[in-house]
Amino acid sequence: MSELKHEINREKLPKHIAIIMDGNGRWAKSKGKLRIFGHESGVKAVRDTVESCAELGVSYLTLYAFSTENWNRPALEINALMSLLVSTIASETKTLMNNNIRLQTIGDTASLPKKCRNELAEAIQKTSGNTRMTLVLALSYSSRWEITEAVKHIASKIQSGEMNTEGITEELISNHLNTAGMPDPELLIRTSGEHRISNFLLWQISYAELYFSPVLWPDFRKEHLYEAILSFQQRERRFGMTSEQVKDV
Ligand code: FPP
Repeated sequence: MSELKHEINREKLPKHIAIIMDGNGRWAKSKGKLRIFGHESGVKAVRDTVESCAELGVSYLTLYAFSTENWNRPALEINALMSLLVSTIASETKTLMNNNIRLQTIGDTASLPKKCRNELAEAIQKTSGNTRMTLVLALSYSSRWEITEAVKHIASKIQSGEMNTEGITEELISNHLNTAGMPDPELLIRTSGEHRISNFLLWQISYAELYFSPVLWPDFRKEHLYEAILSFQQRERRFGMTSEQVKDV
């Protein structure tokens, strides 16, 4: 079926792909529909992406589903997004189980409506033993919020005498982020032609390859994901070293 899929080198897959799903509103507007129709249609793209990452053997997929800044949207849109989240989680948990996919979240999930929190908690618990891939939903998430929380946590440990400032290392900071224990994303994709990071995983994407797709999120399909992964595989990742050094590794 897919030529592109066969071009992907399974030995060189990004272990963790993070995606800023953007363009739902513009997609809906272009069709003369309400923004929420764009979000609803985005669920198909979520399904396609989760399925293809699992099929390929990607270990972690993180989706930016709702940012801290998204709380500033009209109440109607926020409520519709929350309902969509609840109904999607409820209907897709079975698929996650059938495909051995574990669900996790990052972000200030305590600020989500109770119904949402309950639905998520149930799905996270049910899927906790799954091992094929971890799907991470970033909900009420922003990187500055996450880093601020980590700083507070570390400061309180110092204040209580549990540790001293010498103990502050990059590893310690990583371990105080919501993503503790996850590999850093190696590939960050943003759809809709916008070239911004928008407060997403700022610490974790230090060495990620960035891929910007002009496709609006509801139109994002497996082929688009394969294109992004192929682009990732064609790049030389140097981590500050020279080309020659990287080739010797
Ligand atoms: C960005 O498009 C998209 C969002 C803020 C929400 C993403 C949500 C979904 C795809 C549906 C539910 C997801 C899950 C995981 C069940 P935008 O509204 O910013 O678009 P615009 O930039 O064109 O206005």
